[in-house]
Amino acid sequence: MPVSSSTLDIPEHSSVPRHLAIIMDGNGRWATDRFLPRTAGHMRGVQAVRRVVESCGRRGVEFLTLFAFSSENWRRPQEEVSLLMRLFIQTLEKEVGKLQEQGVRLRIVGDIGRFEPRLQELIRDAEESTVHNSTLNLTIAANYGGRWDILQATQRLLAQHPEYAAHPERIDEAALAGYLSMAYAPEPDLFIRTGGEQRISNFLIWQLAYTELYFSPAYWPDFGPRDIDDAFAWYKDRERRFGRTSAQLADKN
Ligand code: FPP
Repeated sequence: MPVSSSTLDIPEHSSVPRHLAIIMDGNGRWATDRFLPRTAGHMRGVQAVRRVVESCGRRGVEFLTLFAFSSENWRRPQEEVSLLMRLFIQTLEKEVGKLQEQGVRLRIVGDIGRFEPRLQELIRDAEESTVHNSTLNLTIAANYGGRWDILQATQRLLAQHPEYAAHPERIDEAALAGYLSMAYAPEPDLFIRTGGEQRISNFLIWQLAYTELYFSPAYWPDFGPRDIDDAFAWYKDRERRFGRTSAQLADKN
């Protein structure tokens, strides 16, 4: 069962989002602006990941989810895909110790079966070795797509409950949501996309139903604690109605 569902119950509002989800966009343009290869932007992007993980931990965010590689990113030039895979491997090799010190639990969601065996092994090791950490739950979405997630949830639900095939009307939201790859987390309160584009790009399409959407013009390699503060200040002032009216909210206060 998911921790909560925005269409079934109304989560508490606090000044710091409990769950922050980010599309880290603009690495390529950051590099191109500097006459560097796009891959240099991804390398700088790893430094931004480090800064944002630390800064979310300090601010009391419980769940941070980063979109690192979409199901559609395989369409990029082979050289860029290979560099990204190497970066994931190097980052896992180098950073897991630091995550331990910071009390960060790491999970990877996505269809990781398509990654090379070494990367799959590192993912399993990193998840296992951080399993007891609880300061911050960091999820990296890799070879992830929101539609893939809904499909795999439906397939697993039916495989485990063949009786639903004869009574599809018995399938409700909670039943399906329990099989989504992030069923362990509440739905994101705040979504940030850097790099100036205003799209969801097949990220957590089920879970973003009532999430506040924030778009930053900053390229991901430039994104840091001050940008997080700006996004949180904006989030704090949002009126999250979850289908209710403003008058209903005023009555409640
Ligand atoms: C989008 O920028 C970024 C990506 C597809 C890759 C994200 C990867 C990282 C930040 C580095 C590795 C991360 C981890 C977790 C180890 P883009 O290339 O689409 O930029 P553009 O829109 O300017 O071309």
